Amino acid sequence: MKLLVTGGCGFIGSNFIRYWLSHHPDDHVTNLDALTYAGNPENLIDYKEDARYRLVKGDICDRDIVFDLMKDCDAVIHFAAESHVDRSVLDASAFVRTNVRGTVTLLDAAKEYQRRFHHVSTDEVFGHLKKDDPPFNESTPYAPRSPYSASKAASDHFVRAYYQTHGVAVTISNCSNNYGPYIFPEKLIPLFITNLLEGKKVPVYGDGAQVRDWLYVEDHCRGIESILLKGRIGETYCLGGKDSEVTNLALTKMLIRLLGKDESSIEFVKDRPGHDFRYSIDYTKAKKELGWEPAVSLEDGLRMTIEWFKAHADWVARCKSGEYREYYAKNYEGKIA
Ligand code: NAD
Ligand code: DAU
Repeated sequence: MKLLVTGGCGFIGSNFIRYWLSHHPDDHVTNLDALTYAGNPENLIDYKEDARYRLVKGDICDRDIVFDLMKDCDAVIHFAAESHVDRSVLDASAFVRTNVRGTVTLLDAAKEYQRRFHHVSTDEVFGHLKKDDPPFNESTPYAPRSPYSASKAASDHFVRAYYQTHGVAVTISNCSNNYGPYIFPEKLIPLFITNLLEGKKVPVYGDGAQVRDWLYVEDHCRGIESILLKGRIGETYCLGGKDSEVTNLALTKMLIRLLGKDESSIEFVKDRPGHDFRYSIDYTKAKKELGWEPAVSLEDGLRMTIEWFKAHADWVARCKSGEYREYYAKNYEGKIA
């Protein structure tokens, strides 16, 4: 197969390309990535000379590039997005442009050339849960609460609409919080690991009682592979972590323990506006239909992630320079109580 991967220089996209080329050695991957702050070609530097891999620097809103690349592929796996909730609180415009317009541009091209289209989405489109609510599943009504999740919900609706209206061969996955190698250090796990390694404090929003479900990125990549190979066209699949629901405070304490630090590193800061309380995923459908289930426990996944970050201090230093510093100041200065 010839795959067109969008956003392949980001966290999940780069893990997916690595996963795909090692499990499907005869396939070819074209990676269309605009190289925003979150896109780093260094994430796939070891494939630079590999004839099976090609990076095209370009925007998914650019119809000429998108139509040109679509012509030459069998399937699209669409990761490209603005992905960080806090940035969407500061300014939603890039989220609307990339997540909605960019997705529609890709769908137009997939419609033109009748290509298979897998859309990578999030559990945040379902809104949030109370402590004892049952987990999200494929029938949970959409109720996004942040500008980020509103833009992802809009993109999901367009994907479904292009299936119903134009017969594009789509599938969608809605998954929980990913973590693992190459995750950009603005999200909780990599920010806290790198701050702790640097001897800094970790900013826990509010009281840290919010709950997230953590999915190790390789499990997620394997889930997308199953959907591409075995998923039913027009269907949505929810993918979640292995017994990995935990409060932010408990997760922070786990990271502190695994890194041999102490709890004086915790700094409670002003809460995220509209902070979703809890996410939880029921992945029964993926297990029954695809035989997929997550394999990596939270403790094992965190250990592997910590080891990766310890071995990639230069990568972290480069990520945490330049634009990152401006974002960090803007996001956290207003929050510290
Ligand atoms: P990321 O922010 O690490 O990477 C996004 C990538 O998209 C970057 O390489 C960036 O350069 C590229 N990109 C952004 N705008 C672009 C544009 N206009 N044209 C082309 N490329 C562009 O994101 P991620 O965490 O790897 O997430 C990938 C996908 O998975 C996203 O769609 C996100 O909504 C979804 N998702 C992420 C998580 C998570 O926990 N990270 C969980 C559920 C779903
Ligand atoms: O659920 C899937 C989603 O998970 C994805 O769609 C998003 O792309 C991804 O960013 C992630 O969203 P979250 O907002 O849940 O992830 P984040 O790592 O930003 O935050 C996790 C939790 O930790 C959340 O409750 C907010 C809290 N938090 C986060 C940061 C960055 C803190 O307490 N302090 C922080 O500094």
